[in-house]
This record gives sequence, C-alpha cells and structure tokens, in this order.
Amino acid sequence: MKVNGVPCRTIWPDPNDPAVINIIDQRQLPHAFVVEGLRSVEEFATAIREMHVRGAGLIGATAAFGIYSALLAATPATAEHCLDQGADLLVATRPTARNLAWAVNRQRAALAHGKTLAEQQQIALATACAIADEDAAFCQRIGEHGLPLIAAISRRKQGAPVNILTHCNAGWLAFVDYGSATAPIYAAHQRGIPLHVWVDETRPWLQGAKLTAWELGQEGVPHTLIADNTGGHLMQHGLVDLVIVGTDRVTRTGDVANKIGTYLKALAARDNQLPFYVALPSSTFDWGISDGLAEIPIEERGGDEVRLVRGRTCDGRDETVCIAPVGTAAVNYGFDVTPARLVTGLITERGITPPLAAAIAALFPEYY
Ligand code: MRU
Repeated sequence: MKVNGVPCRTIWPDPNDPAVINIIDQRQLPHAFVVEGLRSVEEFATAIREMHVRGAGLIGATAAFGIYSALLAATPATAEHCLDQGADLLVATRPTARNLAWAVNRQRAALAHGKTLAEQQQIALATACAIADEDAAFCQRIGEHGLPLIAAISRRKQGAPVNILTHCNAGWLAFVDYGSATAPIYAAHQRGIPLHVWVDETRPWLQGAKLTAWELGQEGVPHTLIADNTGGHLMQHGLVDLVIVGTDRVTRTGDVANKIGTYLKALAARDNQLPFYVALPSSTFDWGISDGLAEIPIEERGGDEVRLVRGRTCDGRDETVCIAPVGTAAVNYGFDVTPARLVTGLITERGITPPLAAAIAALFPEYY
C-alpha cells in the first residue's frame, strides 16, 4: 500500500546492507514515519516484544527474518545453538500470535536442507522473503474473496456507502501488505464502491486511532474514529452494515482470538443480526487445537499500558501522561476469544468458509 503516494511494505531487506532488515517503527505513527534497521536476533525480539512491529502476519515475517539474523551471527560450530536460542527467544515474545511459531517452524523445516552455514544463511533469507511475499499475496487474495460481500451490500443499498466496522489494526501495517480485514475494503474502494469505515480506537495501545486511521487516510478511504464503546450504539441505529476484523489465532473449529474487545463487537453484531466476518491467511490457523477458550494462550502485558497514554501535544511534543490515580491497579489482557458460533464466516486466501471444522477442512484438507 502507499505512504505519501509511494508503494511501501512493512518489512524489507536493506538494499545497501545484506545484514540489515528494515521495518517501520509503528510506535512512532501516525506522527512520524520512522524506518528502523534491525541487525541482530535480539533486536528482532525486542522489536516484536515492544511492538515496533505488531499484527499477526508481520510478527511472523519479522520472526522469519530474525532467524536469518541469528544465523548471520553464527559460526559453523555455533550454528545449531544460535538457531535454537534465536528460535526460543523469538517465539517467547508474543504468546497469542500463531504466525510467530508458524514462521519459525517453517524456517526450521527449510533449514534442515542446508548442509553448510553459508547454505543455511542463504536458505533462511530466501525462506523469510518467501514468507513475506506469500503473506502479501494471501492478503491480496483475501481482498478478492471478501470483495463480493461488500459489493452485495452496496447493491442492496443502491450505491449508498457501505458502513464497515473494524477493531484494532488488521491493515497492511499488521501484515506485509494489504492487510487481512482491510484487504476487502481496499479492493472495494479501488473498484469505486462507496464505503465508510468505523475505526475502533482500540485501547490500550490505540492501534485503531494511531494505525488504522493513518493507513486508511493514506489510501483515501473514508473513515471515522470512534471510542471503543460506540459500536453497539451504531449497530442499534442501522449505522453498521458489516463487521470485519482480523485475528491472531483461529482453532480448527473456528474459534477466534483477536484484540481485546473483539468479543464484545461480535456479541453486539449478533444481537443486531449483522454479519461478523474474520479475515485471515491460513498461517494464522492453529490446526492442533479445537477449544479457543481453553487452549489459546492470552498475552498479558504490563499495567502501565493501561494507566499511561502516549501522544503528541498540540505544539508538537511527544508526551506520555498518566490517566489514572497514581498506583491504581490495572490489568492488561491483549486478546479475547470469540466463539465460532458468533462468527458469520472466515475470509481466507482460498475463499470464505463458515467457522465449522468440516467446512474449514473442505478448504484446507491437508491439515485435517
Ligand atoms: O497487539 P497487536 O497490535 O499485535 O494485535 C493485533 C491485532 O489484534 C490484530 O487485530 C490482529 O493481529 C489481527 S490482524 C493481524
């Protein structure tokens, strides 16, 4: 997608230095566009843990390049140790995101074919680039599969704007390109279908306010920022036609883990008979688990992320302020689980499926 009109991805090898992988430091958005070069597996782990990069697909691609970086620092004698240590370090950074372990496992499988360290380094870079390219291609296909949903609502509304509500940032910033939840939106917008996006601000990190609003703005997609509690009211008053969100992990039975607050949107959508879709590439399925509530690990982050808010003052200074009485206890669950029964459909790179094991198996038979 574009930044100031110029096509951009969220992660790319530095053209001038093969040991450096560039990312966008998303903590600085929307006020500053800062490219950061990552040079060691420790820097990759910090970038994921501290959310310089975030979002399911991008976390996976970053981990894949992190493995490459771990091997660049190895000698033939330490290669196996560096690989194991790097993999453990990366996988521990964000527990809910399935793409993280998926990408590291894919690297490990590919690296089994490398006989020398030089060969392994080459394989690791090629595999990381393939994961990034595939992520972008799969998201583009998610857009093509999701487009008819928006087109059908547009026809029903005789061309009046289709109102889509989304939560958190499942946009191109959360992947390598296109995004998952945003891919159908971008596809529809590019085809001239009038639409408008309600952007949940998404406390406590404010991915909606800081990232989704920014990237929709860059693409010229009409959107309105709302406080997290607003969606239900909008739905009750006929101001939402469709909800599309992303996800960090989906069970083989269609239970969905996504940014905290997603479950409440799904409940409100069900109460208002509105379609609630979840968009994901297949790399986000956890094929080995069936019960989302019991089996998906939910990341818990520090209370300061709830107590403190970072932003830019009107005179251009970046400030962090406290919004609660000093010492207030705060709990910070990063994700919640929306049971499959509340999900209308899963939009994947192979098509749309109901969130049912048998239906998902029909699209992805190799995993069942
Ligand atoms: O904590 P984050 O910003 O990594 O969480 C991101 C989300 O919850 C997105 O909605 C999710 O990754 C799905 S789309 C990649």
